[in-house]
Amino acid sequence: PRIAILISGTGTNMEALLKASITGELPAQVSFVGSDRLEAKGLSTAAALGAQTRVFFYKRDGRAAAEEAIASAVEETHSDWIVLAGFMRVLSPEFVRRFKGRIINIHPALLPAFPGAHGILDAWNAGVPETGVTVHIVDEEVDHGPILAQEKVRRTADDTLETLEAKIHAVEHQLYKRTLKEFLEKHPVDIDQWKGEEDGKD
Ligand code: GRF
Repeated sequence: PRIAILISGTGTNMEALLKASITGELPAQVSFVGSDRLEAKGLSTAAALGAQTRVFFYKRDGRAAAEEAIASAVEETHSDWIVLAGFMRVLSPEFVRRFKGRIINIHPALLPAFPGAHGILDAWNAGVPETGVTVHIVDEEVDHGPILAQEKVRRTADDTLETLEAKIHAVEHQLYKRTLKEFLEKHPVDIDQWKGEEDGKD
């Protein structure tokens, strides 16, 4: 299968997935790494690892046109799945319907607790004894949809926000790889569907 990865920033989750796809640990090919921000550090990481990169210009073109460009890239590259890895834009209901069941996200909290852009900070501020990581299929609501996997992370007495963040990110990188691997194995794509086109590598 081919996965398109969308990022907005550092891209450490993307890097973990891309490296795993290169070593074969993740049985998938990364079709491209896309970002809504030209300056996203993850874009150069992805390029250095040999991935194709794309930028989608939300500010310049507006959301509808930017999403149309994402959809075209997904279709042109015959991507089977769209994997969000720190992609900070909310996808429109129209986009989500178009790729229904084919968009996967990682969130740094135990959904439904602490959705939104600051999952780690919000859990920290709430003083909960444990938080964690969720991998889920994206539906039309933000940080919502069928949960594929969750892993808890305990907040210990000596944790600072920074150490808690580091623990959560370390769990994310492992959980995303593992969960995607299991998910892809359970949801094989029709490998003949693109036969005769492109390089036939799938
Ligand atoms: C991760 O914590 C992810 O769960 C959240 O944004 C962060 C992205 O980090 N949605 P990175 O860009 O993968 O390093």
